[in-house]
Amino acid sequence: MCAKKVTKPAPGDVPTTGHSWDGIEEYDNPMPRWWVWVFYATIVWGIGYTIAYPAWPLINSTTRGLIGDDPRAAVVAEIGDWDAKNGPVKEKLIAADLNGIKDDPALASYAENAGAAVFRTNCAQCHGAGGAGVQSLGYANLLDDDWLWGGTMEDIHLTVTHGIRNTTDPDARYSEMPKWGVDEMLDKDQISQVVEYVLQLSGQDHDATLATAGATVFADNCASCHGETGQGDRAQGAPNLADAVWLYGGTREAIHDSVFYARFGVMPNWNKRLSEDEIRAVSYYVHSLGGGE
Ligand code: HEC
Ligand code: HEC
Repeated sequence: MCAKKVTKPAPGDVPTTGHSWDGIEEYDNPMPRWWVWVFYATIVWGIGYTIAYPAWPLINSTTRGLIGDDPRAAVVAEIGDWDAKNGPVKEKLIAADLNGIKDDPALASYAENAGAAVFRTNCAQCHGAGGAGVQSLGYANLLDDDWLWGGTMEDIHLTVTHGIRNTTDPDARYSEMPKWGVDEMLDKDQISQVVEYVLQLSGQDHDATLATAGATVFADNCASCHGETGQGDRAQGAPNLADAVWLYGGTREAIHDSVFYARFGVMPNWNKRLSEDEIRAVSYYVHSLGGGE
């Protein structure tokens, strides 16, 4: 390293700004010429740019720019292009027999891709990005073949169109489990008994004596919806209680809460927010996730 020798100009050689702090003065050196020219060039460039490209805000829009480059209009045009290109396939999707979509490869591929996009935007926040749902919150798993309301294309299409237990569509799927505990329809003992019986039905550890008593409570109060053997009933959206799949959880506490308070899972109807082709696409997508019947 060779340190450059700094020669200090003698006071008076260079003009000062006149500022002085404790006797320290500030030199008034001119900016280097090249720097000043680059600075002027950037100003000229900046002004030229705002003339050439859309830049200045007006009341309802912006200046258009001399070279006519308008990215916003380009996006609108591109979307319009795609809509025009997809128009025929959307019409075909709307007209198709729900079960026939899979037999037309072009239509099926469109439905699956468009459906996946609709799902990511509208369904994933409840059912999870992959459709696995959220156990314990009642957001149904859509990947398995354990369906509350049915897993055929028609069933899924109807569920998605009208939703479940919402107050915004009179055709929504509807059923209501009684609040056995809150409304004192069963006493504490009966509830404990039937909870042990449900644990037994689903193959979990249980108290055998309580479960035996619980079988009677179940036959009298629950079988009408959940079936003699707890296999569930799709006509009423009553879940299967004899398997390992749970909407609200399969622990003793979760089952107790389901019986005591009852659950009331709500899904919005999508016929107001999505077009028929989007509903069909997303139904097809859900059907294709693995559990479709
Ligand atoms: C606000 C949360 C929410 C959103 C958003 C939502 N769902 Fe649901 N969905 C639910 C709930 C809760 C259930 C279970 C209802 C019940 O207990 O019967 C459900 C049930 C379903 C079922 C019935 C499953 C079965 O086993 O029968 C299907 C099919 C379904 N949803 C599809 C969709 C699709 C497709 C979308 C997007 C267009 C969507 N859901 C968006 C909450 C939601
Ligand atoms: C009127 C029909 C009906 C009757 C009667 C009924 N249930 Fe239900 N049950 C349902 C419905 C519908 C659901 C689903 C609620 C939801 O999806 O939000 C459900 C949910 C449940 C769940 C939660 C299941 C899960 O996957 O998390 C349990 C546990 C349950 N019921 C137990 C019982 C027991 C025990 C009885 C009898 C004491 C009973 N039910 C009587 C309709 C009924």
